[in-house]
Amino acid sequence: MTQLSGSSDVPDLGRRNFLNLLWVGTAAGTALGGLYPVIKYFIPPSSGGGGGGVIAKDALGNDIIVSEYLTTHGAGDRSLAQGLKGDPTYIVIEGDGTIANYGVNAICTHLGCVVPWNTAENKFMCPCHGSQYDETGKVVRGPAPLSLALAHADVTDDNVSFTEWTETDFRTDEDPWWA
Ligand code: FES
Repeated sequence: MTQLSGSSDVPDLGRRNFLNLLWVGTAAGTALGGLYPVIKYFIPPSSGGGGGGVIAKDALGNDIIVSEYLTTHGAGDRSLAQGLKGDPTYIVIEGDGTIANYGVNAICTHLGCVVPWNTAENKFMCPCHGSQYDETGKVVRGPAPLSLALAHADVTDDNVSFTEWTETDFRTDEDPWWA
C-alpha cells in the first residue's frame, strides 16, 4: 500500500530504534539496580578466615531453619544437607540436642560413594566396598585411606553456616588432608 517514502525515513527509523534501545537499557539498568539488594541477600555472607560460607540446604534446596530442624532431628542424628561446593554433608546433633560445630562430608575417601549413616551401628558405613567411619567420620575400617572431610558448622540467624575447615583435624591431630 504505501511505498517507502524515500531515504529520509531511514535515519528516522534508525533514530527510533536507537531511542528504543536506550530506553530498554535504562529500564534494565534500573531493574538490575533495584535487584541488587535482593541478589545480595541470597549471596551468603563470607565469614572471617577467607573461605566464605554456605548456608546448609535441605534436599529441596531450601535453607535449613534450625528451630524447625531440631523438632524432627534429635540427639545423635546425622542427616544430610547440601554443604560446601554442593557436597553432601552431615549435620551432626550432639548428645545434648544441639548442632555440633562441625559437619561431616559424606563422600567416601576410597572411591567417592556417598556414605550413609547407620544408626544401629553408630557408624558411617560405605555400601560400595565396606569402609567404615566412626560417629565423627574418622575412618575405622578400610579400604578408605582417610577420614571423611570436615567443615565448620555454625548456627547463625537460625541457619547452619558451613565454612572451610583448615585447622588441625581434631580426630587425628593432623593437618586436614582436604585443605
Ligand atoms: Fe566407599 Fe569404596 S567408595 S569403600
